[in-house]
Parts: sequence; C-alpha cells; structure tokens
Amino acid sequence: MRTLVTGASGYIGLHILRELLAAGQEVTALVRSRAKLGPFADEPRVHVVESDLEQNGWIVDALLHHDACVHAALIWGEPETEPEARDGAVVAQVFHAAATAGVARSVYLSSAAVHRPFAAVMGEDDPLRPTDAYGATKACGERWLGRACEDSSMTGIVLRPGPVVGPPAFEGGALRIDRRIAEMVDLAAAGRPIEVVDGEGRQLSDVTEVARAVRLLTEADQPEPTYLCVDCEILPWERIARMVVEVLDSPSEVRVRPRDEAAPVPRFRTDRIEALLGGPTNAEAALRAHLRLLAEGHR
Ligand SMILES: NC(=O)c1ccc[n+]([C@@H]2O[C@H](COP(=O)([O-])OP(=O)(O)OC[C@H]3O[C@@H](n4cnc5c(N)ncnc54)[C@H](OP(=O)(O)O)[C@@H]3O)[C@@H](O)[C@H]2O)c1
Repeated sequence: MRTLVTGASGYIGLHILRELLAAGQEVTALVRSRAKLGPFADEPRVHVVESDLEQNGWIVDALLHHDACVHAALIWGEPETEPEARDGAVVAQVFHAAATAGVARSVYLSSAAVHRPFAAVMGEDDPLRPTDAYGATKACGERWLGRACEDSSMTGIVLRPGPVVGPPAFEGGALRIDRRIAEMVDLAAAGRPIEVVDGEGRQLSDVTEVARAVRLLTEADQPEPTYLCVDCEILPWERIARMVVEVLDSPSEVRVRPRDEAAPVPRFRTDRIEALLGGPTNAEAALRAHLRLLAEGHR
C-alpha cells in the first residue's frame, strides 16, 4: 500500500509517517525540507518530495500510483486573515489533485474546533457553524474534501482531533502544544498563579492514537465519513494545571474559580472512534511526557 502524506515534517505528520511505515506501507513524504524528517529521510520505504504546497498549484504527478493521500499540512499565517484564504486554497488543490490522480482514499486532519461554539454533547453528524477563524478554516477544508469526492470515486474521511499531546516522533522532531497548556507552562515557569474554572476541562488526543487512527483509516473496509478523535474522559483544567506545576517543580498556586453557570461541561461523543481503535483512549501519560519536554526547555 502506498500513501502520500502532506505535512509529513510536522508534529502529527511525523507520527503518521512512523505509524504507516510500522504497518509496512510505502510512504511519499511531501515536505518543504527533507532535513525535518530526521531519521525517516533515510528509510528505504520513504520517498521524499520536496515541494511548497503554495508554490505548486498541482501535485497530481506526485500523487499518481498512490492508494491513499493524508493531508496533515496546515498553512499558518496572520490570524483572522491569511489562514482562511491560503489554507483553503491548498486543501482544495490537494484533494482535487488526489481525485484526478485516481487516489482511492483521502484522509483530512481536521479539528474538533469545527464544533465551536461547543454544545453540551457533540457528535460527528452535528451541523457545523464555526464562529472562529481556525474552526471555519478546518470546516472549509472538510467541504473541499467532500467536493473532490463528489466528482470522483475517491472516498474522503475526516478526522477531528482535540488538543494533541505527546512527545515528538524523534528527539528534535516537530512539537506543538495547545495554546492554553502552553500558557500554563509559561505561568508555572515564572512562578505566577494559574487560574482555572472548577469542573471545566477538555478531551485530549494522544498523538500516537491520532496516528494510529489515520493508519487504520487508510486501510479500513467501510470507514465512516467523519471521526472525532479524542479521549472519552474530560481531563479537568485543574488537574492539568496541577500536573504542570508538579512537572515544572513550580511554586505557582493553582487558583480554582467557581463556574458561573450550572451548564454541563461540553463533551464530544467517542463511540465512533472507539469502534475504530478498539476501545477508549487516555492521553494523560502522553501529556505528562509532553510537559516534561516543555519543562526541560524552561530550565
Ligand atoms: N496539534 C494539534 O493540537 C492539532 C489539533 C487538532 C487538529 N490539528 C490539525 O492537524 C494538522 C497537523 O497539525 P500539526 O500540529 O502537526 O501542525 P504542524 O506541526 O504545524 O505541521 C504543519 C505541517 O504543514 C506543513 N506546511 C505548512 N505550510 C506548508 C506549505 N506551504 N507547503 C508544504 N507544507 C507546508 C509544515 O511544514 P514545515 O515543517 O516545512 O513547516 C508542517 O509539516 C493540522 O491540519 C492541524 O489543523 C492539530
């Protein structure tokens, strides 16, 4: 099986690369810089295509003779203006090219952010009305995938992770962290108090489980069109803040404010992803490992 991965040099992309290789697949890594692939650049089953997705209108040639395309690249830019236009254009081109090249299946790394503003209980089939630029950008990408599939025999699958946590795929490999958790780390490093609201939290995603889900979706017989890819359990911000303080060995106080309203904490349904992965996931250990690395960066 041959899969092309865009954004293969990114935080999640590198984990996907490793997972696909471990499953015996041949992988084309579409990257801007081969150097960012670290040890994977020398793997015999990795074919590297160096290309800027914004410079290359069409990547049909690169996609020929592939069974699957995983689009994990994200075009970053000035918030509120650039990503929507630039990322949307790239997503549209990638999936149109995949359909044109005869790729049987495309998987899109979307985000649980498409569900904002969050409701009490959210599932894959809910109508989307994203109100922020990032959520709208990712929802737009999902639509472009649907559009490319309409005119072809390509199957399109959307994966929506929450905040992704875990160490990089190799030492020195790309790493990202949720903005809120990064803020907590900065506060703890400075010894300043961290404020959280009682009972609020998020369902996190372990980066290795996200990569496993992507690999399974490149192979699955009858996949669903969309999967939320998050833990079943909500990890409270208070617990995360205390973990941050502990891992950084910080004197910071964790201040817990009462919730203003009695509304339930928003929750994503996880039955679909659990059926794919064979059970619920728990990203707490991945978060701790991630925090240890961030703590080292602060020492
Ligand atoms: N991280 C999370 O918590 C999270 C949560 C939910 C969803 N997601 C989604 O998952 C996907 C991957 O996220 P990530 O955290 O792995 O992000 P990342 O580390 O920033 O990776 C983005 C990738 O896109 C590539 N890229 C950017 N502009 C490009 C261009 N013009 N041409 C070719 N490649 C380009 C980057 O290449 P360079 O290495 O050259 O910069 C990088 O490999 C994104 O679509 C994101 O929306 C992430």
